[in-house]
Amino acid sequence: MPFSLVRADITKLTVDAIVNAANTSLLGGGGVDGAIHRAAGAELLEECRLLGGCETGQAKATKGYRLNCKHIIHTVGPIWHGGENGEREQLQSCYRNSLVLAESLGCTSIAFPLISAGVYGYPKAEAIAIAEDEARKFLEDHDMDITLVIFDKDSFEISAQRYEDIRQYIDDAYAKLRDDSDRRPLMGAAVMNDEAPAKSKKKSIFSRRKSPEAAGSVPCEIAEEASAEDYFSMRDESFSQSLLRLIDERGMTDVEAYKRANIDRKLFSKIRSDVHYKPKKQTAVAFAVALKLNIRETEELLSKAGYALSNSLDFDLIIRYHIAHGIYDIFEINEALFKFDQTLLGQN
Ligand code: AR6
Repeated sequence: MPFSLVRADITKLTVDAIVNAANTSLLGGGGVDGAIHRAAGAELLEECRLLGGCETGQAKATKGYRLNCKHIIHTVGPIWHGGENGEREQLQSCYRNSLVLAESLGCTSIAFPLISAGVYGYPKAEAIAIAEDEARKFLEDHDMDITLVIFDKDSFEISAQRYEDIRQYIDDAYAKLRDDSDRRPLMGAAVMNDEAPAKSKKKSIFSRRKSPEAAGSVPCEIAEEASAEDYFSMRDESFSQSLLRLIDERGMTDVEAYKRANIDRKLFSKIRSDVHYKPKKQTAVAFAVALKLNIRETEELLSKAGYALSNSLDFDLIIRYHIAHGIYDIFEINEALFKFDQTLLGQN
């Protein structure tokens, strides 16, 4: 996944490069710096002594020693002095310089701690936003797996309002499910207000579709209320075919689509070249988000891969919440999924 959030001890990760939130001496300290030096062993300090320190916002590399990484990139975050002393620009530089250095070292994966958000006192929510922004900018024209490591659960904050809204949305959906099952014990799951009922007469994104066989020959118009025959021809379009057609119809390039979906080029090539490719659910949803599909369209695309959006799973409800509110920013959705301990959108 090009950008992911994980809750972990960074010293335990297997990546090409691990970033250390160091100080200007580069001679070790507390926090993540101490943890990295302890885990890497004494040789790390030996090499650090040769580097001659590092300025705030800059980055220098050493070997990984006993860590499961080839390189440790040491960067020095700003000390928070209220935000009027260039802290933001310095923190941005930490991420940017570390990423550029990692790329020059041939790395394809890198893990960052929340630089400056510990002893150096940078407000956590802002520190996370800067990390995400810099990752996003870098990924626009580079390929790299960037992981932002959140050490303790409390470090991770999304806006209190959004958290409450999502919480409420999930609670309402569960309450509705309970009501419906009390009233109609033999009926299926409840349908949320934000979506079309199952037998919607709304026009389907798949309703004007030519079957693959018909493409280029006789156009096959499928009526809004599809006949059994039409149904089979609709079913013929695989997830991969549907996705590629939707990308074209939305006037997007493939690169735009997979970048917006937080999917890497290799996985997209697999989907593109294998007409029967069965994506994971989080991959399929990621493309629905990238394509800005509404709830009904999302469900239709998901059904091509054998999935549905239920009203009884936190993951599905969080996706519903964002789509219903017109929020299609994959980073923002992943923040919410992360906060609620759900699988993130993209691959893996
Ligand atoms: N894995 C991942 N993240 C961690 C780990 C870990 N093992 N341990 C702590 N964190 P800090 P800073 C998180 O204080 O604010 C050192 O003494 C932690 O929860 O390590 O940039 C240096 O030598 C927090 O979110 O770094 C400097 O003097 C984040 O890492 C000074 O601290 C950064 O916290 C640098 O301060």
